[in-house]
Amino acid sequence: MKTMTLDKILQSQGFGTRKGCRQLIDDGAVRIGGETVTQYDSAFVPAGLEFSVFDEPWIYHEKIYLALNKPPGYECSRKPSGHPGVLTLLPEQFTWREVQPVGRLDHDTTGLLLLSDDGAFIHAQSSPKRHVPKVYVATTHDPVTPALLAQLHEGVQLHDEPAPLTALARQLDTHRLEIVLEQGKYHQVKRMLAAAGNHCVALCRIAVGGVKLAELELTEGEWCYIDPLLPYR
Ligand code: URA
Repeated sequence: MKTMTLDKILQSQGFGTRKGCRQLIDDGAVRIGGETVTQYDSAFVPAGLEFSVFDEPWIYHEKIYLALNKPPGYECSRKPSGHPGVLTLLPEQFTWREVQPVGRLDHDTTGLLLLSDDGAFIHAQSSPKRHVPKVYVATTHDPVTPALLAQLHEGVQLHDEPAPLTALARQLDTHRLEIVLEQGKYHQVKRMLAAAGNHCVALCRIAVGGVKLAELELTEGEWCYIDPLLPYR
């Protein structure tokens, strides 16, 4: 199996520049199998390699696929302006790896956000051709009515869209409904509810394809690794 030198392994996992990684190894910060490794050019099979840096355990991942339970008050944009960015909720190694959110949630939207450093995955997930269903729970200002659900099913016209957009929707209680979207247009849920005559006061994404927030058991702000095939299931 293909091996990699330890400095390259650390660099690929987001521990800084090659020079910085060599310094970490020199400083005796890196342990593998209980042994401190001080030779930066020691070679290991990277796949599944367990190592620790300053006693923090890590497992080598060629690419990473993450689910975050996004709290309110965080921006998904690369250059956040009004609020902290979601990347501040992750280990700094992931920023070094150039992990990015897959699509965006508004700063006040909570719930399931996928992130990855795999460009092909991000592209595939963001492509409208994939039809990966995204499930939201919206809390509305006015009560949910059969007329509101009917409008969402039949289609509502947003001013910058060529054709009405439809959504599967079902009532959960007086002021909450579950909405399933296959596209990810700007503020889509909020704009669709507004176009249907109501107002969204809170929004939480609970699933993206086969990735279900409830099954991940993440508290707000927590993240975990996921199987990259899960969104398509
Ligand atoms: N629709 C919205 O209006 N906001 C989101 O964050 C996601 C979907």
